[in-house]
Amino acid sequence: MSMNVNNNVLSSVEECERQLAKLLGRDCCVWTGNGTSALYLAYKLCPDQRPKILLPALMCVQPMLAVYYAGRIPVFCDVREEDATIDPNAVDEMLKNDRDIGAVLAVHLYGNAADVERLKAICKKHDVFLIEDLAQALGGRYTDGSSFGSKGDFSVVSFGYSKILDAGDGGGFITDDASIARRARDWERRIPEQTKNSQILQDDFKKLYYMVTELGQKDPKFFQMFDQFPDLFQSLFLYQRIDGAAAHTLSLLDTLEGEVARRIKMQDLYLRELQGISSVQFFCAQSGVPWRFTFRVDANRRDELLQYVRSIGFDISSWYPSITEWTPTGRLQGREQFPIANKLEQEVVNLWVDPSYDEAKVQLLTKQIKEFLLTGRVIEP
Ligand SMILES: Cc1ncc(COP(=O)(O)O)c(C=O)c1O
Repeated sequence: MSMNVNNNVLSSVEECERQLAKLLGRDCCVWTGNGTSALYLAYKLCPDQRPKILLPALMCVQPMLAVYYAGRIPVFCDVREEDATIDPNAVDEMLKNDRDIGAVLAVHLYGNAADVERLKAICKKHDVFLIEDLAQALGGRYTDGSSFGSKGDFSVVSFGYSKILDAGDGGGFITDDASIARRARDWERRIPEQTKNSQILQDDFKKLYYMVTELGQKDPKFFQMFDQFPDLFQSLFLYQRIDGAAAHTLSLLDTLEGEVARRIKMQDLYLRELQGISSVQFFCAQSGVPWRFTFRVDANRRDELLQYVRSIGFDISSWYPSITEWTPTGRLQGREQFPIANKLEQEVVNLWVDPSYDEAKVQLLTKQIKEFLLTGRVIEP
């Protein structure tokens, strides 16, 4: 009986790996506990003698935490104003000046396509690895029709909370190189299992995260408290693959195409309804697949808008911050190196496109936002 259960678990994992590799047009996939653990494998497989990993300044904290877990050193590059993805010109400059960098992380942030063709040429010129992070962009396609995740040396996917397909957990490390995949599998087996107190730790993480972020905005010195985060929260972010997550993900993969189309339709609706407001700017790269509908609002109105939208019962967020001050190496580089990330963090707004939002709800929400931004008045709900 127990052998059967184990066989079923194994076959779900294997089938999920096979389908994910096929989806991205790649040869090998190693199923992982989550996207962070997949990134950990990617960094581990970069050359030891070039330990720095070049990250975009504006992104979520997990890809940076994974750098520490892999025993590497994070360094940062600014992002492009038009799509908030890592700036290839800045990458080229950094790689010219620092031979200790062994890999570049291209995050398809918000589902926007990073300029992977240019990044690939730059990485090849400097002989470093290119890692594609499509945790927020599964199902996105480049203008040439190929899938996000099909061009980097390694690619990383996630099926965690709020991702394009949300199975609650699970991730994948993807490559065309079978010997690299074997080594990734060996490293994956050595990752600790998830601990039992993860919900409590998650709550502690949230509390501390928001506290330090708020204090850091008053005085950047407080960001130094983030230096403790990799160590304090390792068990929350780095863990072995979990039985069941692969089977759940498999059951969702068939819905990907429909989900991408539905999200694009929601994005088009937001775009149409929020046109013509002078305090609003859109990112150019509305290709790919929207993680949330992300746009910019003048910094002097952004926080009021967040407050107002929450007060009338809708979801809204302002992801992501510029995280360079959260590491000793980023602080050494200096905040002034990242003018675009520093500007965007004051302006970004994300609205929901997941299945809890339909056309009627988007229309109701955008009407309120328009009224608020155009007149400063609020409509009685
Ligand atoms: C861009 C990006 N990379 C990696 C991750 C980590 O994925 P996971 O939550 O599955 O560990 C996230 C999660 O928020 C993400 O947004």
